[in-house]
Amino acid sequence: MPAPAASAPSPIVATPVQVRRARFDDLGALVALEQSTFALDRMSARQWRRHLRSTSADVVVAVRDDRPIGAAVVFHRRGTDIARLYSIAVAAGERGGGIGRALLDAAEQAARARGGRRVRLEVRSDNAAAQALYERAGYRAFGVHPAYYKDGADARRYEKLLAAPG
Ligand SMILES: CC(C)(COP(=O)(O)OP(=O)(O)OC[C@H]1O[C@@H](n2cnc3c(N)ncnc32)[C@H](O)[C@@H]1OP(=O)(O)O)[C@@H](O)C(=O)NCCC(=O)NCCS
Repeated sequence: MPAPAASAPSPIVATPVQVRRARFDDLGALVALEQSTFALDRMSARQWRRHLRSTSADVVVAVRDDRPIGAAVVFHRRGTDIARLYSIAVAAGERGGGIGRALLDAAEQAARARGGRRVRLEVRSDNAAAQALYERAGYRAFGVHPAYYKDGADARRYEKLLAAPG
């Protein structure tokens, strides 16, 4: 087959992103994502392992070619209809394309599936991107945890009332 002419446009193949429940064999990719995303307060491999095994947590991943490029973790507790979005991250080169929103939607769906009516979360007060994501998705700020993070940064608390199922 002849070599393509130098001026021929290179084909652009957009691989779709899907969101699915995380599996145990995603562990390596989840740890790598965590390390490349967060400088402080990182989850260790051990913590990820615990969340993947936990019956009171849901871990969802956005995947391309079945490889995680984003993840979210939701915690559930007995006796309350408030779910907690514990973590959400999208690989740096993949941001701004709706993956964070897709993960947030999946996290809310996971909460609803367990009878959750509200989702709460904490976010660094200097994390404008994450606050924009939450506010666009209907979360409202309702408080502050002063000096919540290891470096002394405050956390803003957000909450969303989930629509009733159906
Ligand atoms: C926060 C994060 C998950 C967002 O993921 P993302 O895939 O880039 O987000 P999306 O493309 O789905 O954007 C969703 C909305 O958030 C807003 N948003 C996202 N990044 C933004 C930015 N840097 N500045 C302003 N708004 C932003 C967009 O306006 C978008 O709303 P729109 O589509 O209605 O315009 C991603 O930036 C990330 O992984 N950051 C590092 C980890 C982190 O901070 N996690 C949150 C800890 S609480």
